[in-house]
Amino acid sequence: MMTNRGARGNLFAGLAAAALWAAGCGGGGGPTGEGSGEGAQGTGAPAPAEIRIGEYGSMTGSDATFGVSTHNGIDLAVKQLNEAGGVKGSKLRVTTYDDQGKQQEAATAVTKLVTQDKVVAILGEVASARSLAGGTVAQQHGVPMISPASTNPKVTELGDYIFRVCFLDDFQGEVMARFARDTLKLDRVAIFRDAKNAYSVGLSDFFKKSFEGAGGKVVADVSYGSGDSDFKSQLTTLRAAEPQAIFIPGYYTEVGNIAQQARGMGLSVPLLGGDGWDSAKLVEIGGPAVEGTYFSSHYSVNDTKPEVKSFVDAYKAAYGGEPDSNAALAYDAAKLLADAMGRAPSVTPQAIRDAIAATRDFPGVTGVITIDEKRNARKSAVVLKVEGGKFVVAETVNP
Ligand code: PHE
Repeated sequence: MMTNRGARGNLFAGLAAAALWAAGCGGGGGPTGEGSGEGAQGTGAPAPAEIRIGEYGSMTGSDATFGVSTHNGIDLAVKQLNEAGGVKGSKLRVTTYDDQGKQQEAATAVTKLVTQDKVVAILGEVASARSLAGGTVAQQHGVPMISPASTNPKVTELGDYIFRVCFLDDFQGEVMARFARDTLKLDRVAIFRDAKNAYSVGLSDFFKKSFEGAGGKVVADVSYGSGDSDFKSQLTTLRAAEPQAIFIPGYYTEVGNIAQQARGMGLSVPLLGGDGWDSAKLVEIGGPAVEGTYFSSHYSVNDTKPEVKSFVDAYKAAYGGEPDSNAALAYDAAKLLADAMGRAPSVTPQAIRDAIAATRDFPGVTGVITIDEKRNARKSAVVLKVEGGKFVVAETVNP
């Protein structure tokens, strides 16, 4: 369900407007409860009835599971937090915009969250390119943003208000290069990158550097563009290079189609990828063509640690399906934000920023999170293998 309520009656035809996403939780409608003075705190300043947080993501489009899983993860965290009394006696309220997987809409969404909804902090985006677009706006306005899942190094380099709770692509590229070289014992690998996706370009470059640094050879490096659906001419080039595996660090929709077409052309070597594969849709789209492939990601739904189990159980009970990496990272980002707001002397954007920056050893579902001086987190990665349509842990790699 999607509405344009965010734009009120002022919606001009053709106006680019990221739509307010009204899912089950109090996302719809306008600002409420302002200045009711309820729940006064010891500091003398009355606590607001509610603390407004913004969220932007791809609820629709070709990587919609990124946005929907993230939304569910945030929703679960916020429900649990509010049931436990909220933050400083105030309830958290999340306003969510669908950016449709478009960079321009991501920037529009953040502008609205800041100027119209007056949120004190923002959660999003998943795709690095959209975090770069939205993060630029958040930084300009001095509103802290935590990206749950954007791994491109440039995202947090935008400025001192931009954070992330996941590992970075230099690490992820190294993880998959070492996996190809040391575990699979490969000498010759080809790269098939999405030239229109900053994440894919960055991760390809990091992988190449690490794989060649470890004595391997990249025998071909060709590209496609997000939204493409016919990959046969590039696959012909890739096949001619006779690689032992192909590294395809794209998003799941294109990757599923690439895998299908590769297998259809008799290209049967292992396919390797990164966290952009982490969606149940990879298997729906790729089917048997993605069996036996490997990709790096942030966590495994089968992890037996009690904190992971209780998250997975609560998520399944609330939303039906299994939580993917984005659901888990978003849950962690929301809980970490609430923890920072609890420690902040006041819930102003600047005080929240400082408290996020001071986060040490926060116990997340995806691992322990310490925010470093570059506003990044150092976390372990898992290499997952697609087996019987499920993602099975092949390896865990610590930083
Ligand atoms: N790391 C990807 C990016 O930066 C986003 C992503 C994270 C996708 C986790 C899926 C799972 O673009």
